[in-house]
Amino acid sequence: MFVKISLSTTIKASISLSSLRNIQSYSVVMSKFDLPDRLKGNDKSVWVEYIQLALKYKPLNLGQGHPDFYAPENVTKALVDAATSDNPLLNQYTRGFGHPRLVNVIAKLYSKLLDRTLDPNNEVIVTCGAYEALYDVLQGHTNPGDEWIIIEPFFDCYVPMIRTAGGIPRYIALKPKRTNELLSSADWIFDKQELESLFNEKTKGIIINTPHNPIGKVFTLNELEFIANLAKKWNTLVVSDEVYEWLVYEPYKHIRIATLPGMYERTITIGSAGKTFSVTGWKIGWAYGPANLLYNLQVVHQNCTYTCNTPIQEAIAVGFEQELERFGQPDCYFVSLAKELQPKRDYMAKFLSDIGMIPTIPEGGYFMIATWTALKDKVRLEEETDENKDYRFTKWMTKNVGIQGIPPSAFYVSEHKHLAEDYVRYCFIKKDENLKKAADILMKWKSQQ
Ligand SMILES: Cc1ncc(COP(=O)(O)O)c(C=O)c1O
Repeated sequence: MFVKISLSTTIKASISLSSLRNIQSYSVVMSKFDLPDRLKGNDKSVWVEYIQLALKYKPLNLGQGHPDFYAPENVTKALVDAATSDNPLLNQYTRGFGHPRLVNVIAKLYSKLLDRTLDPNNEVIVTCGAYEALYDVLQGHTNPGDEWIIIEPFFDCYVPMIRTAGGIPRYIALKPKRTNELLSSADWIFDKQELESLFNEKTKGIIINTPHNPIGKVFTLNELEFIANLAKKWNTLVVSDEVYEWLVYEPYKHIRIATLPGMYERTITIGSAGKTFSVTGWKIGWAYGPANLLYNLQVVHQNCTYTCNTPIQEAIAVGFEQELERFGQPDCYFVSLAKELQPKRDYMAKFLSDIGMIPTIPEGGYFMIATWTALKDKVRLEEETDENKDYRFTKWMTKNVGIQGIPPSAFYVSEHKHLAEDYVRYCFIKKDENLKKAADILMKWKSQQ
């Protein structure tokens, strides 16, 4: 008996020792492959999560910002021509900082718009979407401890990009002047004193986004001048995310901060072919600005993607050349797309108001935010587990009503997410028939007991 017990104790001891060793060595191996510290906290992405949700529940998707109609025929045809061209080099690597035909026409366009001559080889860089341009700026211009001022709500990648580069985001929120009635995006403003108080010796730059996603705000000359004066006073950069530059509704006008006195020297402006030509899947963007500032972006780009897709760059170049020929005329896509979208915007504002939401009418872009709290009794938020109510609202609506929107708190830092919980963001660059479907679904849901 004694022997038996002592034997089994020994076996037990040896088993537990070996499994302990296994667990230890397993956790040593695993911790070696943990997410590196500089990426921690960056693992949640509203896009990844909501695309999954859409795939699973197949709602009418008013969430992600892309058209559900055909891209303009001239650019898709230009892509076919490029890919099947008798010039074999159009399917091979092209110049790393931008395909020559594309940087030439981008420089030509912005030289006209900025009324200064841009050097296509040193003052323009082509990137894999505006996303990569943002990444190149933030990696290329951030030393550990540098501060970046961000205006909330902000396009969600700014913050992880700053943090990954060792920078520190500082926040200021756009706030509505009132909340209980129909609003314009012009009613969303920042407090000037608060913005001024964020600038200091450590400030590397401020990121602005005009026209704005998700509010649709088009920054006024007065607001841009205020920002420009602070940037000059504190010798900082301005990163101007202008991916929706052509989507501005009458009577508003897009102003490029780089055109203000003394601002070209400190501004990097970012654009997107995806937004400009309604081809978001093509993922080509660009940045333009003074050569000394763009040099840092070139260093990041050449060690990251190095070069972008050649036939797509060729097709976008052709698209730009054609738009330049009809620049300022009603059939120029830069003008006609906004004209086409304005009635869609107004239709969405009406059907959201009709069901009791309070929309903010955007001056630009193709998103609309609206408060949904008047409908709270019709939604069973308790069935969802997310911390923020707008996440619960949008998920419940996707699963139970068949309409998907995006929770705007995704565009706020954790401490400020509560500011957005009463809102939902919908996208209106959709076919009329799909907007009508959305209106019908929401009306039917609203009228159910
Ligand atoms: C404000 C803003 N910046 C940048 C981007 C990224 O643009 P791209 O698709 O060209 O990478 C988007 C896309 O939705 C955006 O809304």
